[in-house]
Amino acid sequence: MTGEQTLVIIKPDGVQRGLVGEIIGRLERRGLQIVAMELRAISRQTAERHYAEHEGKPFYAGLVDYIVSSPAVVLALSGPGAIAVTRSTVGATRPAEAAPGTIRGDLGLTVGRNLIHASDSADSAARELALFFPDGTTTYDRAISPWLLES
Ligand code: RTP
Ligand code: MG
Repeated sequence: MTGEQTLVIIKPDGVQRGLVGEIIGRLERRGLQIVAMELRAISRQTAERHYAEHEGKPFYAGLVDYIVSSPAVVLALSGPGAIAVTRSTVGATRPAEAAPGTIRGDLGLTVGRNLIHASDSADSAARELALFFPDGTTTYDRAISPWLLES
């Protein structure tokens, strides 16, 4: 599948609640292609780099503590419009405000336990993919492609 790539993290609450399959299933069924994936204990240094834009904000320390508190699933997804498609499937930052049908709107309640991260722009995706998958991602054809994507 051609198209852009985005970085997704199923945060520790998603893993601990047994929602990895549910969350990945929603993104897979949308048509996005998994091109990298790992269950990983994110280091504090990586978490601080990942969320550097939020340094100095009141929730920053708690956010980093939350992301390193237990393993997360880190994945890269590919597809046409993958960045925006993934963000819209994830829903608003605050689950209480996220639309029903979105991951956060169906599965979450509070902003400090909102289950999933997704890159918010092309620049963020490039930076985050390089941070979490410095060796790159995998390219492979799927037989479903002609049925999923108009060429
Ligand atoms: P993410 O980066 O995790 O995909 O989330 P996002 O773009 O929807 O939201 P962002 O503004 O980038 O915030 C990053 C994460 O920080 C936590 N947060 N807590 N207590 C608060 O007011 C607050 N605001 C943000 C959330 O875990 C959010 O996902
Ligand atoms: Mg963000």
